Amino acid sequence: MNILFIGDVVGKPGRRTLAQMLPALRRELEADLVIANGENSAGGFGITQETFDDLVAAGVDVVTGGNHTWHMREAYALLDSEPRILRPANYPAGTPGRGAGVFRASGRSAAAVGVLNLEGRVFMGPLESPFRVGRDEAERLRREAAVVVVDIHAEATSEKSALGWYLDGRVSAVVGTHTHVQTADERILPEGTAFITDVGMTGPRDSIIGMARDGALQRFLTLLPARFEVAAGPVQLNGVLVDVEERTGRARRIERVVRTSG
Ligand SMILES: [Fe+2]
Ligand SMILES: [Fe+2]
Repeated sequence: MNILFIGDVVGKPGRRTLAQMLPALRRELEADLVIANGENSAGGFGITQETFDDLVAAGVDVVTGGNHTWHMREAYALLDSEPRILRPANYPAGTPGRGAGVFRASGRSAAAVGVLNLEGRVFMGPLESPFRVGRDEAERLRREAAVVVVDIHAEATSEKSALGWYLDGRVSAVVGTHTHVQTADERILPEGTAFITDVGMTGPRDSIIGMARDGALQRFLTLLPARFEVAAGPVQLNGVLVDVEERTGRARRIERVVRTSG
């Protein structure tokens, strides 16, 4: 089966481009399940009912999150009521929403797919260990689904790489998000887990990780607070397509997907 994972969708440009490209891309790549990281879908920060609906209308089946999931207050209730939105599983007990779920593919394959969202701790918040929580949750999901995909939303390359090796053979894929720049290290690890350090971003290309250059530059130049706005101009779509043997959950192939519009 083919699973398409789309990197962080940034603001309206990201959502619009996804709506334009995903229906054809889904057919072209014969994707049976589409997962997208949606933590930046609302104006670059957070997710709302409206932006979630846009992602689903474009053809996304499951939406993962990260550190920006919490930016919009309305997301809290949405996370509790909408099973197709996940937030990282390693937040403290009592945090709104869920960190994992089992979903059904809807292409040539109708396999059950476990999706697990984790967040890193290096240069990020002091969360529970993504390694311990990740291993426990992966084991739990494997009892319900042979195929399990992990989104590790993290800053540090080393932490994402370590988690990939730690979960090798325990899940079908470990894909990184959060840094918004696609890495070229996609591979199948020895025990059958597909891995990439970062899937990249679906958002404005001529930007600083999706944001208009002026505000981001001012912040670096002056170290003062600056207003961040989603950038304009051509939009890139970044993703990875993972081919998984649905009976065993072993990945056969991972390939990067890059498209540009406008
Ligand atoms: Fe992001
Ligand atoms: Fe993030």
